[in-house]
Amino acid sequence: MLRLAIAGDLHGQWDQADAQLLEILQPDALLVVGDLADGDVMLPRLLRQLDLPVACVLGNHDAAKDASGRTLARMEQALGDLHCGWSLKLLDPIPLSVVGGRPGSAGGGFYLSPAVKAHWGELSLFDSAQRITAAAVRAPADQPLVLLAHSGPTGLGSEVADPCGRDWKRPACDWGDQDLQEAIRCIRKQRPLPLVVFGHMHHRLRHGAGQRRTLLQDRQGTVYLNAACVPRHGVDAMGKAWRHFSWVEMNHLGVVQLAAHRWYGLDGEVINEQRLLDLQPALS
Ligand SMILES: [Fe+2]
Repeated sequence: MLRLAIAGDLHGQWDQADAQLLEILQPDALLVVGDLADGDVMLPRLLRQLDLPVACVLGNHDAAKDASGRTLARMEQALGDLHCGWSLKLLDPIPLSVVGGRPGSAGGGFYLSPAVKAHWGELSLFDSAQRITAAAVRAPADQPLVLLAHSGPTGLGSEVADPCGRDWKRPACDWGDQDLQEAIRCIRKQRPLPLVVFGHMHHRLRHGAGQRRTLLQDRQGTVYLNAACVPRHGVDAMGKAWRHFSWVEMNHLGVVQLAAHRWYGLDGEVINEQRLLDLQPALS
C-alpha cells in the first residue's frame, strides 16, 4: 500500500514540527500543491531537507507580487527536482509517478499571469494540456500515476461549494483549469489515472457559506482531491497544536483505498479526521 501525505496551500505554514511529524507518520511520499510562502525561498529549502520523496508544483502566490518572473524563477530553482510543473517525477524508491499541472495557475479556465508568461513564456491552452499529457504518457505503465496541480480541473461542478467553485464573487462558477481537464481527457485514452490532487480553492468558503466539497470520483474511477485546508496550522480548544495533512492510501494497482483530511497533534495522534473515501475492510 502506498501512503501519501499531501500538504495543501502552505502560505508560509511549514516548520520543524511538520518535518518531525512526517518522521513519526512515515508516509511513502509528500505531495505539496503550491502557494508556499509568497516567494520566500527558505520554504523550498526546508522541503528539500526532508528525508522522503517529495513532489511540488508552484502556485499563483509563489510569484509574490513580482510580475517580472524572477521570483518564480528563484522559487523553481530553490525547489530543484522537487518541482514537477509540466513534467514527470518518479518518486524513487516508491513505485509512483507524479506529473505536475501548469505551474503558477490561479484557476479561472486558462489565464497566464504576467509573471508566468515572463518566466515560462506564452503558450496556449492546448500547448499546456499537451505538455501535461506528454509527461504522463512517459510514466512507467506499471506504476500508478498521480496528477499534482495547483488549481484543479474544470468539470468538477460550478456551484459555490464544488471542489473548484468560485466562492469570492457571485455568481458562482467553475473556476478550474481547462488545460488540466483536457490533459486528463487525453491521458485517460492512453492509461489509467487514479488520482488528481490540487489546492488553491480553500476549504472554508467566503461569506460564511460553509465548507467546500473536497473529494469527487468520476465514472472512470479517477479520484479528485482538493487538499487546500487553510490555515493548516492551528491550536484546538484544549490548547493542543495541530497540523493538517490530507492522507491517501492507494494499492499498487492504483486503486485509492482511503482518502481523508487529518488534523494531527505534534506527537502524531489524529485529533480529528474527515474520511472522504474508504474502501478498507471494516475491522471485526
Ligand atoms: Fe493559489
